[in-house]
Amino acid sequence: MSKQRAKWVVGNWKMHGRLAENEVLLRALVDGAGTAATGTVRVGVCVPAPYLAQAEALLREAPLVWGVQDVSAYAEGAYTGEVAAGMAADFGATLAIVGHSERRAYHGERSEVVALKAQRALDAGLTPIVCVGETLEQRESGATQAVVGAQIDAVLAALPVAGLARIVVAYEPVWAIGTGKSATAEQAQEMHAFLRARLASKDAALADVPLLYGGSVKPDNAQTLFGQKDIDGGLIGGASLKSQDFLAICAAAR
Ligand code: PGA
Repeated sequence: MSKQRAKWVVGNWKMHGRLAENEVLLRALVDGAGTAATGTVRVGVCVPAPYLAQAEALLREAPLVWGVQDVSAYAEGAYTGEVAAGMAADFGATLAIVGHSERRAYHGERSEVVALKAQRALDAGLTPIVCVGETLEQRESGATQAVVGAQIDAVLAALPVAGLARIVVAYEPVWAIGTGKSATAEQAQEMHAFLRARLASKDAALADVPLLYGGSVKPDNAQTLFGQKDIDGGLIGGASLKSQDFLAICAAAR
């Protein structure tokens, strides 16, 4: 497989930011994006849903895309508090993270629900970024591939190949998220190769699904991680809140 796939760097702000500080951050990204998002690097930020209009207003003219961190498993209806993928699309969003480990851990999201959310995102024209990853306990008990394999299989089973060809997958080991302890490049590459083979075994057309690594990506480890054969960029949490760090990570993807 040739290594001509585009690179992606996507910020996941989580539940951080307020109007004033978002504006400073987004303006700094717009200023730096001309150099950071050149060539084949696609740069995006997934903001808290109430700030979609702000992202749209500030990023519309910039080489940056934006999105949400979750969508409802339903298109519309009596689901108090939920945000439908189509609502995010109304504000120009093109990305939707689904199945983040924090949603799985704190909101009981099972892989079958994650698959529904990915389908709803696709229906609304958004690119779902499907997150998978094992806990430390699962890794230490040798269950990493079984756990991650089952997570991706649920999505592979539920979506048609044409839809799957439009998803992005993020491998995010839970023990590396927000801990400052990234997976090594070798550990990440091993899991990315595993995921790529799993996708390709469903259909050859899925061999080029972008595979992002997430979990304590910083300016000083981004280049090594992104240099791995099957790592097509990153999903960036903490470091996406600091414009200099985020832009440096984008530059490392070039
Ligand atoms: P982190 O988070 O970069 O702060 O480890 C990554 C994520 O949760 O997507």
